[in-house]
Amino acid sequence: MIVQAQGLRKAYGRIQAVDGLSLEIEEGEIYGLLGPNGSGKTTTILILLGLTEPSGGEVRVAGFNPVREALKVKRIVGYLPENVGFYEDLTARENLRYIARLNGIPDRDSKKRIQEVLEQVGLSDVADRPVGTYSRGMRQRLGIADVLIKQPKLAILDEPTTGIDPEGAGQILDMIVEMRNQQRLTILLSSHLLHQVQRVCDRVGIMHQGKLVAEGTVDELGAKSSGEGLELEAQVRGAGPELLAALEVLEGVRGVTCEDGRLRISCERDVRAQVARAILEHGAELLELRRRTFTLEEIYLRYFQGG
Ligand SMILES: Nc1ncnc2c1ncn2[C@@H]1O[C@H](COP(=O)(O)OP(=O)(O)O)[C@@H](O)[C@H]1O
Ligand SMILES: [Mg+2]
Repeated sequence: MIVQAQGLRKAYGRIQAVDGLSLEIEEGEIYGLLGPNGSGKTTTILILLGLTEPSGGEVRVAGFNPVREALKVKRIVGYLPENVGFYEDLTARENLRYIARLNGIPDRDSKKRIQEVLEQVGLSDVADRPVGTYSRGMRQRLGIADVLIKQPKLAILDEPTTGIDPEGAGQILDMIVEMRNQQRLTILLSSHLLHQVQRVCDRVGIMHQGKLVAEGTVDELGAKSSGEGLELEAQVRGAGPELLAALEVLEGVRGVTCEDGRLRISCERDVRAQVARAILEHGAELLELRRRTFTLEEIYLRYFQGG
């Protein structure tokens, strides 16, 4: 485990920003810390980085205690804050050189590395323009370059796609997957934009009022939030009322709806084989049959709107 936290708490006056949070992240994972604004994501991140002290609980990052060994943690963690700042009148390349120096990398060693990371984040063509002329998307990419420069084991990205148009956000997310695949680093990203980030996360934790209210793969959360059951979706040609009746009485099936040849079958367990057989036995044509997975957006709504 590269991140291990147990019973973390952080209070700001009477506000319990983090309220008994436990978190485990494995090496090589892309973990999404998701939740609405104010749910405690940034505070959790600041605790992991040793930038704020927890009021309670235990935390280890790569085996180090961020409270007492903040420098050791800093050496192996790359951090992209919510609002990353650069020197506006310096170019991207100059900003990175400055950051490399701060990390103790001499110019002669950083030159090649800077060029590599600029290419990796797709900024090599504009690397010699002042950062003041950059869009938010370009700044975020430069922020990711900044994270990569020091070759961290763990990258913590706070709301990396917020404020960026969908296309730019998609590119940044693809870049994050690339980073993990090529450099085998672990990534913790936070976001309140569930639908945007869910496709790249191996696991997600959903935060609400300082607590982790759900955790797992997106598929696992989908299965849980549909009440221990699951839903199948079948595209069928020639579905008649007899077929629907036959499906409804199959063991394990709770209910069936049909719309334009698309069957939705809610069931207690995976009865795909039985469903397929019944469809064929009724002389209908089965075009597609799959388990319906829920988007995180749907899961999120279930958790946060009284579901
Ligand atoms: N420095 C601070 N002082 C006082 N309250 C804070 C501070 N930072 C965060 N909070 C409060 O803690 C709660 C969690 O905030 P935060 O961790 O920033 O959530 P998120 O990143 O999920 O939006 C919010 O109610 C916020 O107003
Ligand atoms: Mg935040």
